[in-house]
Amino acid sequence: MRDYSSDRIDLRSDTVTQPTPAMRDAMHHARVGDDVLGDDPTVTELEQRIAALCGKEAGLFVPSGTMSNAIALRTHTSPGDEIITAVNSHIYVYEGGGYAALCGASIALVNVEGGLMNAPDVEKAIRKQAGSLSHYPDGSLVCVENTSNRGGGACYPQATLDAIAAVAKANDCAVHMDGARIFNAVIATGVPLDRMVRDYDSISICLSKSLGAPIGSVLVGSKAFIARAHRWRKMFGGGMRQSGMIASAGLYALDHNIERLSDDHQRTMTLANAINSTDGFSVDMDTVETNMIYFHSETPASEVMGHLQSKGIDVMDIQPNTCRIVVHLHITDEDIAQIINVFSEM
Ligand SMILES: Cc1ncc(COP(=O)(O)O)c(C=O)c1O
Repeated sequence: MRDYSSDRIDLRSDTVTQPTPAMRDAMHHARVGDDVLGDDPTVTELEQRIAALCGKEAGLFVPSGTMSNAIALRTHTSPGDEIITAVNSHIYVYEGGGYAALCGASIALVNVEGGLMNAPDVEKAIRKQAGSLSHYPDGSLVCVENTSNRGGGACYPQATLDAIAAVAKANDCAVHMDGARIFNAVIATGVPLDRMVRDYDSISICLSKSLGAPIGSVLVGSKAFIARAHRWRKMFGGGMRQSGMIASAGLYALDHNIERLSDDHQRTMTLANAINSTDGFSVDMDTVETNMIYFHSETPASEVMGHLQSKGIDVMDIQPNTCRIVVHLHITDEDIAQIINVFSEM
């Protein structure tokens, strides 16, 4: 039984989830205050809890993952700096060029294999003004996305995360993690969150993706970093007043919606295997580790999407012959069986 008011099977994103009655109840009873004045106890609790889970000193609640990344980028860099990140990263592909408009920074793109960067390639992409007769920008920030959205939801091996952070540090770069779906990575790899991000200066974590909250992300880092980020949040218009109303949904999600991600991952794997063995479709199974499937089709993606739509199933066409499926907390075993059935008839 889906816990929202639609009979469609909506797999376009894990951002389509709606707060469940229990989550709405938590929101209804939230203690609130004016968070711009530092008075909202629920926001403070959420910031401190996520910071503690990451083993960091402080957190900052913001409306969206895009704003959280933008604040991190702006706090870490100065105009004329260069940010080093994956060619498929959300920061580069899907955030409106905010790195250029809001930070005055350029981007050095790193190729990916299996959706993920490796440390030697990151190191090669770091350029420094010093010693270049001022030809180069100053590479000052490395960004890693875990899980990797356009990488098929793949998780970085811990050794790679550590190695990338090490080359960043060795080259005087800060290192930021876009952890929009970091709890999916924690559940899939079994690596505790504080260990996973140990060597990272800042981490952006979304509550409104696979965790099922309606709004909100938390940026974490050192006290000094978050104090500077706080000013950028103000300038970007991200200071919110009685935001405990939505932070309470985030706290509810931390308590109830993390362990259950393994169910999403199992359903994703079942569906990915079925699609991959259907004639005319293929999935790069190596990247299927969490709640995403990018499937390739012989027929144009728009046609596949249209056919699925006519059967009550919504997916997103990403490229001419590729669609994305994201499994989330409203998707049941019965839904998975129904989707497999529709694929088998195509
Ligand atoms: C990896 C990643 N980072 C950041 C974001 C941005 O989050 P938001 O849509 O809350 O701005 C997304 C959104 O899907 C994402 O997938």
